[in-house]
Parts: sequence; C-alpha cells; structure tokens
Amino acid sequence: MKPRRSVLAVPGSNPKMIAKAKGLPVDEVFLDLEDAVAPGAKAAARANIVAALNDSGWGEQLRVVRVNDWTTQWTYADVISVVDGAGTALDAILLPKVTDAGQVRALDLLLSQLERANGIRPGRIGIEPQIENALGLRNIDEIATASPRVQTLVFGPADFMASINMRTLVVGEQPEGYDTGDAYHHILMTILLTARAHGLQAIDGPYLQIRDIDGFRRAAGRTAALGFDGKWVLHPSQVDAANEIFSPRQADYDHAEMILDAYAYHTSAEGGARGAAMLGDEMIDEASAKMAVVIAEKGRAAGM
Ligand code: GLV
Ligand code: MG
Repeated sequence: MKPRRSVLAVPGSNPKMIAKAKGLPVDEVFLDLEDAVAPGAKAAARANIVAALNDSGWGEQLRVVRVNDWTTQWTYADVISVVDGAGTALDAILLPKVTDAGQVRALDLLLSQLERANGIRPGRIGIEPQIENALGLRNIDEIATASPRVQTLVFGPADFMASINMRTLVVGEQPEGYDTGDAYHHILMTILLTARAHGLQAIDGPYLQIRDIDGFRRAAGRTAALGFDGKWVLHPSQVDAANEIFSPRQADYDHAEMILDAYAYHTSAEGGARGAAMLGDEMIDEASAKMAVVIAEKGRAAGM
C-alpha cells in the first residue's frame, strides 16, 4: 500500500486551496464535502471537486473525497456525483462518523454499481472509514472487515471527544482533571490493533492549533511511536513535520537494513543456517528481523 504519512484536508468549496494542495509533498489529499463545507455550499463543492480531480497538475498524492455521513441527506449524491464525474481520478472515499458495518457495505454496493456504469476497474475505489464516535469504536472490527475496499482506519478526535462527552475543547490535549495517563490511549490502541489485525493503515486525525508546530510534533510523535502510519495535516506548515515523523529516522532505517542483511546471511546455508546470530553486540533472531522488516518497509515506501 502507498504510504499515508501526511493526509492533507482541503475544503471542497475552496478552489484556491485545492489548487495549492496539488503542489504540496503530501502522501494523500482529501477534498472535503463534510464538516468543512456549509450545508448550502455542498452542491457547488461537488462540482468544484469533480473539476479539480479531472484537472491536470496532480503529483503522486492519493486523491480522496470525504463525503457526508449516512445519517444526512447528502451522502448518496456526494458519491454519485464524484464517481460519475471523476471516478478514474479517485483513489478512495473517506466515510465519516461510521457506526457499523452496514454503512460500509452500503457504500461498497453503491461504488460497485458506479464503477460498472462508468467502466472503472472493479474495486479501484477504496474506503477509509473514520472512527469518531463510541458506536464506531465498539463496532470497529466489523467495520474494518465489512468490505475488501477498506484500506485504512482513521481517527476523528474532535467528533470522538464530543461523542463521549470528554471534558475538553482542545483536540489532542489531555482533559483537565485527568492526570493519570493518556486519555486517548485506549481509543488509539483499539484503532491501531484493529488496523494491524486486518492489514490496514492506521491514520491519526487533525491537530487544530495550526500555529503550534511543537504541539503538532508532540501529538504526531505520540501516535507515530505507537505505530500509526500517518496523520492529517491542515496547513502546509504541518506537512514536513508529518512526513518526517511518520518516516523512520535514517539511522534506524540503515540499522534495520543491516539487521535484515545479517539475518539473511546467518540463516543461509553459506552463513551456517543459524536461527540466532550476533550483529556487533546485538543478538538477532527471527523476532528482531520482523521488527526490522517493519522499519525497512516503511523506509523503502518513503523512498529512503
Ligand atoms: C475529524 O473529522 C474530527 O472529528 O476530528
Ligand atoms: Mg469529524
């Protein structure tokens, strides 16, 4: 799967911002029809997005559209207009506020018809379910496996905090009065473990204080350390930080490749067919090789 270290959120109602997004070195751009677009501007935003997707000038970024959630009156028309208008230029649909597998299946069925009707390769368009309420987290396993189109699980911290009545207004910061750990740990680990169990990417949501780049780095560093694959970025100033934080450090990447080379040699007949061996002062075996594979693959995907 292509990396999603930096996932840029762009309002679908803003052609200027969409044009600027094309030139940014992000792994994914998602054009928003949901919370960044006012109810009266949804139809115009659909047309903007179709035009922008069909425009030239895109780089290597994955191109994704966030539609409105299935409890609104907009979802079906969002999906139909975007896929009819620009389905061959669309990599995935980001589906917000998912509560259960049925919502993912409904989107899967609609996408299957639209792909057939438009001569698009079956299964081309992926689904990124956004986990942003208590029900979605309780049903996350069935959501993750509801369709082979599911590629990622995406945390929506602002809606999530609202959905559980968490007593804070600052996304990513600890609620006042809770000083015994990380209030998000259970949510983040549930998303991460489910993603890993089913071979999906785990993506952290936005950090809203866009001028506080140290705060962004702290928040991104925490989820990167757990094993998340990437994070939303809301502003060009967050892009380089996300790409750096969700790539392995050069020294770690080099070390991982060294472990893999040494392990391949020692387990070969020529190297003595040993299961465990020494690399300098470090004992390496199959488990350490597995850890090295994780870092090496991330580094290779990032072009290191
Ligand atoms: C993003 O959609 C969020 O709710 O944080
Ligand atoms: Mg949200």
